[in-house]
Amino acid sequence: MKKFKVAALAGDGIGPEVMREAIKVLRATEKKFDFTTEITEAPVGWAGIDAAGKALPDATLELCKKSDSILFGSVGLPDRDPTIPKEERPERAALLRIRKEFGLFANLRPVQLPKALAHACPLAKERQGDGIDILVVRELTGGMYFGQPKKTEDLGGGNFRAIDTMVYTTPEIERIAHVAFKAAQLRRKKLTSIDKANVLENGILWREVVTRVGKNYPDVTLEHMFVDNGAMQLMLRPTQFDVMLCENMFGDILSDEAAAIAGSLGMLPSASLGATSNENTFGFYEPAGGTAPDIAGKNLANPIAQILSVALMLRHSFGLNDAAAAIERAVKTAIEAGNRTGDIFSASEANARKVGTREMGDAIAAAV
Ligand code: IPM
Ligand code: MG
Repeated sequence: MKKFKVAALAGDGIGPEVMREAIKVLRATEKKFDFTTEITEAPVGWAGIDAAGKALPDATLELCKKSDSILFGSVGLPDRDPTIPKEERPERAALLRIRKEFGLFANLRPVQLPKALAHACPLAKERQGDGIDILVVRELTGGMYFGQPKKTEDLGGGNFRAIDTMVYTTPEIERIAHVAFKAAQLRRKKLTSIDKANVLENGILWREVVTRVGKNYPDVTLEHMFVDNGAMQLMLRPTQFDVMLCENMFGDILSDEAAAIAGSLGMLPSASLGATSNENTFGFYEPAGGTAPDIAGKNLANPIAQILSVALMLRHSFGLNDAAAAIERAVKTAIEAGNRTGDIFSASEANARKVGTREMGDAIAAAV
């Protein structure tokens, strides 16, 4: 029987309660398919600061290195302790650090609006067409998030100068472009590359390199779109998109927009992968939404993004395609049966029932 080591880092806010449901669903899936996982939980984020004085405690990082994959919750509580320097806060010291440390340059965010959730989409019915199904491929270890210099200078007299630097090299663009083209080949074979080539040097290079890489994928239709237009087109005609390829910051922004169109940020899983994508690829799996401190600990959070992140882990890191598909089907079944957390609930739906985090997890585990 195949056995995998998973580091489960629940983190802050709603992290622990959605992680609990994800592990429940993972356990149910193991019973049906021929694999087992050894899950080790460890603190990260503010939980790491509380437990070991660091957002990414050394022991947690060691555990990650010894694991086949990381199942991550979410980190960051903007209102907590403003005296802790920004470099030590969970967003940078844990999340961005792990992305960089493990070279996880390819972030996949599949956005799907299930038919049963058409009401949760803020767009008019006619804009939803036959359904929205987009894969955002976001570059995750370059661009403005990591470019140097990155600092704030004191100009005196109460004035400051903040600098972030957008940097991309040809190889960085090439490798993420290959990931996006390969993903498009397995889907509807259309790739929209997002850039700002009318203003940014980075955009010009991005467009040149993606065009060149595209020559290797003649079966994929490539189009280029400026990011501002991309944001607008997502609102006007989201069904035109199959795969959207974005640099780090544009992908951060557009994936939230796409998730809202697909019903809720609470539905959006993500996979962050490194250099290879054979079987047993090390990967990092997390919901794209945040810690949602306002609803944390109240059994209100939608666990689906975390549960679908487990499905991505089984597919991309463990090569367990059937088990992954079983989880995705189970999510659909639970939704079609009328289970709704608050974020996807509408009183106008005849057969819908408002349920909590735990009940949603139970329904999905049962459906597996
Ligand atoms: C995301 C998040 C992170 C990001 C934050 C929490 C640092 O918004 O994963 O999309 O900006 O990458
Ligand atoms: Mg984001």
